Amino acid sequence: MERAFDPTHAVEAAAWIRGQMGARAVPMSALITGSGLGMMADSVQAPVRFPTTEIPHWPQSTVEGHAGRLVVGSIAGHPVIVMQGRVHFYEGYPIQQVAFPIRVLQALGVQRLIVTNAAGGMEKSWAAGDIMLIRDHINVPGMAGQNPLIGPNNTQLGPRFPSMANAYDPTLRALAHEVAREQGLTLREGIYAMVSGPSYETPAELRFLHVAGAHAVGMSTAPEVIVARHAGMTVLGFSLLTNMVLFDPTAEEETTHDEVLEVGALAAPRLVRLLEGILTRWATS
Ligand code: HPA
Repeated sequence: MERAFDPTHAVEAAAWIRGQMGARAVPMSALITGSGLGMMADSVQAPVRFPTTEIPHWPQSTVEGHAGRLVVGSIAGHPVIVMQGRVHFYEGYPIQQVAFPIRVLQALGVQRLIVTNAAGGMEKSWAAGDIMLIRDHINVPGMAGQNPLIGPNNTQLGPRFPSMANAYDPTLRALAHEVAREQGLTLREGIYAMVSGPSYETPAELRFLHVAGAHAVGMSTAPEVIVARHAGMTVLGFSLLTNMVLFDPTAEEETTHDEVLEVGALAAPRLVRLLEGILTRWATS
C-alpha cells in the first residue's frame, strides 16, 4: 500500500526549521491561526519568521486569509511556534497532508497545541463575533472515510487506535473559562463539526448537524487534532464564530468568505488577550 504520509519528510522539515532557529530552543507549544486570525501572530514577541514555502515538503495554502508563515517567539513570555495559516482538505490535499504540519511539530518535540478556526455559529442565542471553546468535534469527513490516520500505523508516532475521548483537554478548558471570566469575556463552549467544504452547507445539512449536537461548523481542525492526539499532544481549541449559519432556506442573506475575514480581524485581539491569559497561567502551572 502506498503511504500517503512519509515520516522522513516530517523529520526533514523539522530539521530545516531547527536549522533556522540557531541557538534558540524549540518551543514546546504551538498555535495554529485560523481563517482571518493570522494577525494573532503579530503579538508574538521577539519573532523569527519564515515563509512555509521554504520548508521542505510543507503543504502550501492557496486561500486568501492564510499567510503561510511560521513565526517563532513568545506570547506572554511563553515560547511558541505559530503556524500562520494552514491548508484545508478542500484545497485538494490528501487528508494526511493537511495534518502534515502536526507531524513536523511532533518531530520538533512540541507537546501542546492550540488550534483556532473560523466557524459558523449554530446556537440561536449566540452572535457573530463570539468565541467558542471547542469541547469536542464531529469529524464528518472522518466518518465518511477521510481520517488522517488511515494507512499503515507507525507505532513510533502513536498507537493504531488512539482514543479521542477528551481530545480537547478538560483541565485547559476549565482554565480557559477561568481566564475568560477574569477578563469579562463571554466564552461559549460547544461541539465543532468539520465539513469538507468548500461550498457552505445547505440549510438541510445545517439542520442535520445541529440535530447531531453541533454548535459550530467549519472546514478545518479535526484532522490536525486527531494527529496531535495520536502524537500524545495536549490540545486546546477555539472557534471564532464569524457568522451565524442560516437554517432558514428562504433567508435572503448568504455566508461569504469576506465576512469571515472581516469578523476575524475584529475579534482577533480578544482571542489574543484570552490566549495571553491562558499561556501566562499555563506556563506557571
Ligand atoms: N460554514 C463552514 N465554514 C465556515 C463557516 C460556515 O458558516 N463560517 C466560517 N467558516
